Amino acid sequence: MANTESWGSRVGLILAMAGNAVGLGNFLRFPVQAIQNGGGAFIIPYLVCFLLMGIPLLWVEWSMGRFGGRKGNHSTPFILHEMDPKRALWKYIGVFGIFTNIAVAAYYCYLESWTLSYLWHSIAGTFNGQTADQVAGFFGNYVDINTSTTGIPFEPIVFWLICLLLNTWILAKGLSGGVEKVAKVGMPLLILFGIFLAIMAVTLKSGDHGAVNDGTVGLNFLWTPDYSSIWTAKVWLAAAGQIFFTLSVGMGSIQCYASYVKKKDDIALNAMSAGWMNEFVEVVLGASIIIPISIGYLGIDRVVEMTQSGGLGLGFKTLPYLFTQWGPTLAMIAGVCWFGLLFFAGITSSLAMGTPVMGFLKDEFGWKHKNAAWFFGLIILVLGLPCVLYFKEGVFDEYDYWAGTVGLVVFALFEIILFAWVFGMDKGWKEINAGADIKVPTIFRFIIKYVTPLFIGGVFVASLPGIWEKITATGLPWQVHAARVLLLLMFATTCWFVRVAYMKRKANLKNWTK
Ligand code: ALA
Repeated sequence: MANTESWGSRVGLILAMAGNAVGLGNFLRFPVQAIQNGGGAFIIPYLVCFLLMGIPLLWVEWSMGRFGGRKGNHSTPFILHEMDPKRALWKYIGVFGIFTNIAVAAYYCYLESWTLSYLWHSIAGTFNGQTADQVAGFFGNYVDINTSTTGIPFEPIVFWLICLLLNTWILAKGLSGGVEKVAKVGMPLLILFGIFLAIMAVTLKSGDHGAVNDGTVGLNFLWTPDYSSIWTAKVWLAAAGQIFFTLSVGMGSIQCYASYVKKKDDIALNAMSAGWMNEFVEVVLGASIIIPISIGYLGIDRVVEMTQSGGLGLGFKTLPYLFTQWGPTLAMIAGVCWFGLLFFAGITSSLAMGTPVMGFLKDEFGWKHKNAAWFFGLIILVLGLPCVLYFKEGVFDEYDYWAGTVGLVVFALFEIILFAWVFGMDKGWKEINAGADIKVPTIFRFIIKYVTPLFIGGVFVASLPGIWEKITATGLPWQVHAARVLLLLMFATTCWFVRVAYMKRKANLKNWTK
């Protein structure tokens, strides 16, 4: 059965693509990365990475997707294969574009489900009257399945299952009937909630409701440029990692969404609209909520110290307590806005992670759309369960490291080489500009060919010692080893599926030419 889906409207496509990018990373990961890496010291490498890696990769991935889609391919194994049909290697490199989405979705959906649960607790007023330690303790309790005493039996599992069902159900409704509709409602609401919270945060006054600093102290911490970081590899790696994660580049989901764009439609302006919308949400809204509120109440030093042990703490352990300082009604409104915006940010991204494997199964094995959606739900259930059960043992972080960090860089490095050097910049540049509603600055031809590959190559090489350290670390719990085996098995199984699909294509071609 031919895979003939398409987007309903241009605005729907842009919102869905922006929704793919705008995610939990914008509101939870970005502020924490910024704080951990010195505030103003982070922002310069971050913006440079956006210009030299993020923007070029957006154009490259959008054009790869539209190119592949023209030939009936909606997932990266055969999109990459189509760009260099002579070499067998590319379709296996393309496996990253399915693997990474599944592995990230496996932990991401769990994180997304916390936002639903916290939304419920904000409405129920659970945190009112609790001390800072009690609110922080609530989180510790929540993620510890054995001792979970947060009110609802097996609460984390219940919310996780609701979240998975919701994702699967929307995916089953299709691109224009499900994903696009959610993006059209979710993105404007998210921006509205974000603006409300940002105003509350920025106008925070020292002395009001127990705040010790004005909201602007946190903003100044981030926006006062500090050039000392220019020569610090750690800050550059963090900035590059954030750009990959936030834009969802190096993942395979952009190529998949773009493969449903009609062949004469613009991608140059669309890519920029979605990409810049993500940056607005990240550096304007994402930076103006957690940072000013937590620094407003706790001061810079304390907040820096709190983020050293990981990032999720502020959003779930600290913010709900700080909201209660504003009184029960405002605390409820702020809680609904915060966890509501996180939920919309999360679900519009996890939906995008479901589409590559569905496209693959539909293209190669003629699966019905609904069956492909439920199959995705099932894989996430199986692969996500260890994250839920063994969160504290580090399974969640393990998935995030291998898939959400290393996987993105490796795949991006291969795809930029394929695009600029194998497919070739002449053809590539034509692809980017075909049907373009803007003039893409010619300097990007040079950047895509030379600067971006070198830049990503540099990031990869600089990451190698960290990767080696991870591999050789001793004393890890058995659950972490099991998680690694599970990820490897999933990668190998996907390679095997790609091989079977390839053989099937070859057999069909033979029959056809007989
Ligand atoms: N780009 C998505 C995020 O930022 C994955 O969360």
